[in-house]
Amino acid sequence: MPLASRLLALLRQRRGAFVSGEEFSSLLGVSRTAVWKHIHQLAAAGYRIEVVPHLGYQLRETPDRLLPDEILSGLTTKLLGRPSVCFEETTSTNDRALALAVQGAAEGTIVAAENQTQGRGRIRRAWHSKAGANLLFSLILKPGWTIEQAPLLTLLAAAAVTRAIRSHTGLPAMIKWPNDVLIRGGKVAGILTEMQTQAERILFVVCGIGVNVNAAPAGNLKTPAVSLAGLLGKPLLRLPLLRSILQDFEELYLEAKKHGQDSILRHWEAYSCMNSAQVRIDLPGEACLEGTALGVDETGALLVRLDGGTIRRVISGEVSLILAEAKQ
Ligand code: BTN
Repeated sequence: MPLASRLLALLRQRRGAFVSGEEFSSLLGVSRTAVWKHIHQLAAAGYRIEVVPHLGYQLRETPDRLLPDEILSGLTTKLLGRPSVCFEETTSTNDRALALAVQGAAEGTIVAAENQTQGRGRIRRAWHSKAGANLLFSLILKPGWTIEQAPLLTLLAAAAVTRAIRSHTGLPAMIKWPNDVLIRGGKVAGILTEMQTQAERILFVVCGIGVNVNAAPAGNLKTPAVSLAGLLGKPLLRLPLLRSILQDFEELYLEAKKHGQDSILRHWEAYSCMNSAQVRIDLPGEACLEGTALGVDETGALLVRLDGGTIRRVISGEVSLILAEAKQ
């Protein structure tokens, strides 16, 4: 473990008391100058540490920043978020996670960033987010499933994010197929799943998740973006929500691995706003469809009863909900 992390762990353990430079130096087996240097590094990273001559150091406040030590502190997962790789700025956490997975990074690895310069969404859209305000992260997963089962992971991610947002904020988050998380008609989170496969099987999946916690980007999204803070009328700490998402994600993931993927569909449907909804679907390279959404089949495809009565299975496309008033 890096020295700064060991120092921080000791400061946390002894919260509420001062610890002298001398004690740190003997507990950590380093010089007092090294202790001082690392205390400065922690302060520069946003930790508020009180320094009192002859008494020593005391941890007063930890930052709500995407730092490995902060993500791990209080995280109860066995797999997800371990290890964590954090960037102040990167192109896209999905790019970084894909590169790490190719190099053999462990399942569960999280790559998080305060800012992305080339954040991307589904259907080749850009994903914009204000630096330091929101959650931007990607998880490396190795479920050992077949390629056909891959869309279920996206549904699983949407169910986990929705569940965590609901329990954490009390807001009525819902899922619009396949994986947009909406609250009162505005998009609060999006998921982009990318994978590498070999011989019909998934080698690894990178599940990229963006949550508008404190800022909603103005953009050209068909569905307007909203933030949790905007809906609650107050700023929100990001780390506790991130830990809830990781915990819920892991619970649903391990359940699906152990008992089969049907459980994913049950969780997803519990939060879906698609049951019997009137929808318009823009299909890649085809005329758009209108009909009634009936739910998803066992592969995660959306079933729609078209206005003529036929049932159409949709595996990709952009769904818009048609509000009753708008249709009349
Ligand atoms: C969508 O709704 O279109 C999906 C958006 C996914 C955005 C996240 S932010 C973290 C990760 N890195 C990216 O470049 N994209 C995903």
